[in-house]
Amino acid sequence: MSAYDEIYQESLNNPEKFWGSAAEHIHWYKKWDKVLDDSDAPYYRWFTGGELNTCYNALDVHVENGRADQAALIYDSPITDSQRTYTYRELRDEVARFAGMLAEKGVVKGERVIIYMPMIAEAAISMLACARLGAVHSVVFGGFAANELAVRIDDAQPKVIVTASCGIEPGRIVEYKPLLDEAIDTATHKPDACIILQREQAIAALVEGRDYDMKELMASAEAHDCVSVAATDPLYILYTSGTTGQPKGIVRDNGGHAVALKWSMKSIYDIDPGDVYWAASDVGWVVGHSYIVYAPLFNGNTTILYEGKPVGTPDAGAFWRVISEHEVRCLFTAPTAFRAIKKEDPDGKLVADYDLTCLDSLFLAGERCDPATLVWAQEKLKVPVIDHWWQTETGWAICANCTGIELLPVKEGSPSKAVPGWDLRVLGEDLQEIKAGEIGALVVKLPLPPGTFPTLWNAKERHHEAYLADYPGYYKTADAGFIDEDGYVFVMSRTDDIINVAGHRLSTGAMEEVLSAHPDVAECAVTGVADKLKGQVPLGFIVLNAGCERSHEDIAKEVIKMVRDRIGPVAAFKQAVVVKRLPKTRSGKILRGTMQKIADVAPWKMPATIDDPVILDEITEVLKSIGYAKKE
Ligand code: COA
Ligand code: AMP
Repeated sequence: MSAYDEIYQESLNNPEKFWGSAAEHIHWYKKWDKVLDDSDAPYYRWFTGGELNTCYNALDVHVENGRADQAALIYDSPITDSQRTYTYRELRDEVARFAGMLAEKGVVKGERVIIYMPMIAEAAISMLACARLGAVHSVVFGGFAANELAVRIDDAQPKVIVTASCGIEPGRIVEYKPLLDEAIDTATHKPDACIILQREQAIAALVEGRDYDMKELMASAEAHDCVSVAATDPLYILYTSGTTGQPKGIVRDNGGHAVALKWSMKSIYDIDPGDVYWAASDVGWVVGHSYIVYAPLFNGNTTILYEGKPVGTPDAGAFWRVISEHEVRCLFTAPTAFRAIKKEDPDGKLVADYDLTCLDSLFLAGERCDPATLVWAQEKLKVPVIDHWWQTETGWAICANCTGIELLPVKEGSPSKAVPGWDLRVLGEDLQEIKAGEIGALVVKLPLPPGTFPTLWNAKERHHEAYLADYPGYYKTADAGFIDEDGYVFVMSRTDDIINVAGHRLSTGAMEEVLSAHPDVAECAVTGVADKLKGQVPLGFIVLNAGCERSHEDIAKEVIKMVRDRIGPVAAFKQAVVVKRLPKTRSGKILRGTMQKIADVAPWKMPATIDDPVILDEITEVLKSIGYAKKE
């Protein structure tokens, strides 16, 4: 039996022993009563009765155990041409004072704090400060518009919002404060206070009595100690796209999260304490939560927080510069970042300008990794390139090549095998397991391992409906795929309306809600169509109200602007076309999947239940007129 097989089997045969021993590597104020609590199955809980503090495990424990002067976090910002290194001691002290500042504004254990921040050190500091207090943070990605922020304010009901005056995108300053003001105006819930970091690129006007200057408050803030919380208490809520405009608030607990993430650093990424680890993502996404902030700090690593892009800051050698300058051992990013680099520097000439001998591995996730990108990265970097599959919900990888256990041969197009703890199966429509190699629903037999999500914030029913109801006894990933004869998993597509744009997860349903609000739009559909750089981009089809004679171009421009204003630039919604009719089944369901396949020139079958097949010919013509539905 291989090392991987042995550990995998052990994790499934005796989960309590397996995770109980992993939990010994975490600092507990009080040990758990039960490793796995199944008293309310299918709602399982890990480490019930245990008490700990996540921030203590990320910072204080290392300060007290010999890492006080080691770099904990390096903020590297080519976009502002600045850098700052925080040692574990400095970061602990900064976070403790930040926690004191939040406490002065009334934040206590269990209270929510929304963090709407660009990629600056203060984003991580505010997350850790919440964890220190036992407060629940909810980070909102900076590329979302005011309306998305408002929806999250109403759902999470934060006591305080922490933000910065601006984010910086290549070529433009994104002023956050007007977005925040608009969001608070729109939301029903009002926070008691907003704490704003004034960046020199844009100074925000503050609202008297509600807004506070972060630097001024920090100047007099007193350090706050770590607050003991239950292992099952929430650490954070992270909203992610669902099938409607109402995002799902993924809840992460404290205990299971700390145990699983700490375990993952060695087992999956083969990273030892003291190593430099870089997740080139954004704190607004799950990868940023787990692998910019929490896991590397639990593990005593140096983590890099990078405010820049893979290209253009200043060139396609940006990633190589960061790796060599900070001696990064493992890089984690999305395939789209590598596609962007490859597009600008196809021969990888810039790689030769840097010494990358420090790098041991590259991990990719967030979207399906196309083999061409994987092979290019392997050839240029000369290290194992590991595709791994996970979701906001799961918090860490379901499938990976666990390099710290055993580096398995890489199969292109596959995120390798199920990670220990994950009992992954493929089920058919009859809810039975299907044969190796056949495509079905990828599901995980319950219980999920620690570190995933016990529930959705304020939405227990939705949690059940969305994830547990369709396949009783299993977690529905909403991804379809297959497992081959060797146990390698292939993740093929989503089974819902989610699309993946440049590694960002977006709901086409949410975009359709925006399009439908246009006064001239009678009906609409949004699908994701293949894009060489971003993997997928959204494409809107709109049917106009009878009698509408306005210019199609003007209406398309208006709906594009509406999506940008309501969802945000991150939606990358740049194309909408007017069509006469939408193809539907006889029961009225829009055939989005068929339209998508026609656009991508992928194989498709005429749906047996189609109402009027001629409409597909009309759609094909429209798609051809804008460059889709054609072989290259
Ligand atoms: N704040 C404000 N706006 C933001 C933003 C932020 N934090 N992040 C992105 N945007 C804006 C961009 O400026 C862009 O606006 P534009 O339409 O005016 O150009 C839009 O949102 C789309 O951004 P993005 O999808 O990132 O595309 P891009 O063309 O700017 O860059 C890549 C393309 C591939 C370089 C970039 O998407 C990338 O680095 N992706 C990696 C994704 C990633 O890390 N995913 C996390 C999972 S691991
Ligand atoms: P997110 O919640 O933003 O992390 O997006 C999760 C979704 O992204 C998954 O359900 C998949 O559809 C897709 N995804 C993430 N990683 C991979 C991968 N390695 N291979 C294929 N799809 C992936």
